[in-house]
Amino acid sequence: MDPMSFILFGATGDLAKRKIYPALFNLYMDNKLPEAFSVIGVGRESLNKKEFQSTVIDSLYEFSRHSTDDKAKKLAFVQKLSYVNVDVTDEESFNELKAFVEGQEEGAGLGNNRIFYLSVSPALFDVITTNINKSGLGDTSGWKRVIIEKPFGHDLKSARALNSTVLRAFSEDEIYRIDHYLGKPMVQNLETLISANPVLQSIWSNQLIANVQITANETVGVGTRSSYYEHSGAIRDMVQNHMLQLVMMTAVRMSERQSVSELRDEKIKLMNAIEPTSPEDVIRAQYTRLTIQDETIVSGYTDESGVRSDSTTDTFVAARLQINTPTWQGVPFFIRTGKRLRSKETKIVVEFKDSLNLSQNASDAAPNLLVIHINPNDGVTLQLNSKHPLTGELEPIKVEFSASHRETPEAYEFLLADAIKGDPTFFTHWDEVELAWQWIQPILEQFDSNTIPLHYYQAGTNGPEEADKLLESYGYKWW
Ligand SMILES: NC(=O)c1ccc[n+]([C@@H]2O[C@H](COP(=O)([O-])OP(=O)(O)OC[C@H]3O[C@@H](n4cnc5c(N)ncnc54)[C@H](OP(=O)(O)O)[C@@H]3O)[C@@H](O)[C@H]2O)c1
Repeated sequence: MDPMSFILFGATGDLAKRKIYPALFNLYMDNKLPEAFSVIGVGRESLNKKEFQSTVIDSLYEFSRHSTDDKAKKLAFVQKLSYVNVDVTDEESFNELKAFVEGQEEGAGLGNNRIFYLSVSPALFDVITTNINKSGLGDTSGWKRVIIEKPFGHDLKSARALNSTVLRAFSEDEIYRIDHYLGKPMVQNLETLISANPVLQSIWSNQLIANVQITANETVGVGTRSSYYEHSGAIRDMVQNHMLQLVMMTAVRMSERQSVSELRDEKIKLMNAIEPTSPEDVIRAQYTRLTIQDETIVSGYTDESGVRSDSTTDTFVAARLQINTPTWQGVPFFIRTGKRLRSKETKIVVEFKDSLNLSQNASDAAPNLLVIHINPNDGVTLQLNSKHPLTGELEPIKVEFSASHRETPEAYEFLLADAIKGDPTFFTHWDEVELAWQWIQPILEQFDSNTIPLHYYQAGTNGPEEADKLLESYGYKWW
């Protein structure tokens, strides 16, 4: 692996502490970082090197997968970390940052390869890439890459404007847009699951699949992120990026290991083939408080701190998507995602068509299902119909594989390792992002005009009943 400098904007932030430092440390412990590297944290807070290193150590204690007991290794890792106090809106301070990075590179024989990680508010993506460009920090004789956190834009127009700015400093193949769902082990495994199993390959189409249901439910509310969420809602926070990526990763058909560009081209073709959705096929809703005997047990969305009392922000979205390709014509893809729901679960359920040859109780037979569990446990369940030995009646049996007993690396570990290697497979290409915004844009407008009405669901339930009715109208139910 090439030596590199990893320049982290947002080094004192929540994401850096919870995900980025632990991921870097875990990669280091697994020998998946280059021999020579340097992590340069950037933030406004005034910290010296020792103070910064100690905040990182605290985060490793709390969040890293690897034990921090090996003092020598921990120290060796921490010595790679330094900090520069920079306000990114101040153009001048980028000259100091550049001088610091160059000093580190010379001192540690790091060469001239640089990764810039923008773990800051999206409002700063623009100014940081502009200042990287103007200061010459992006002029390297080696390679350079930029990792950009979500959200990439607020709507189609702002996403296009942001992309044009980023492209002034980085070319498309140097831009690594994070969608951390693409880093989840079972999502990365989908390709192999299908391509390495001829059985699945042969049934992966509208010949045998009746519908696909993708669920990403959370039990938590907005927590401390209400100022962000009020402007985003579930549609921007989850659907525009993660849910559409899960749809594409499920629908993409790979008969053999494909190159990065082939996989991306396939996904782009699929995204292009998603038909515009009619308002009746989209359900938006917001959670209300859960009370028992007049006592509030769980706050409603509009009771949350930082949320307007008349807010119409969606905390739940369900929709039907139709991919207009010969493979998927006639197979509805249903998606649903929300906060404050009964259980925390991300999964893809593939429901197979009924057998035409079942002689007895065919109408009562449970459908055959393939369930890909993504979160909190990863694994696969195949539900098949079998005959009960005593009654002779059909009964569903389950064949299960669970990976949850294994110590699986976190999404950020996979994604950082890929970005460091220069493998963009599980990052989103601009064409995917733009097509996703194009599909979402009319829905945003229908939310604003109330063409898609806001429904309500009580915290702790399975979501609004309208989401159930949506499936019923197509003859299905959520699994
Ligand atoms: N947190 C999550 O769970 C999560 C999940 C998915 C995506 N993301 C995305 O990740 C990014 C970071 O989120 P976060 O939760 O870590 O945010 P955060 O806790 O608010 O941290 C923001 C960081 O930006 C720095 N910063 C702000 N203004 C600055 C300026 N003018 N100059 C230099 N640094 C500045 C702050 O440093 P100082 O305070 O020192 O200035 C801080 O380190 C966002 O794009 C977010 O959407 C976060």
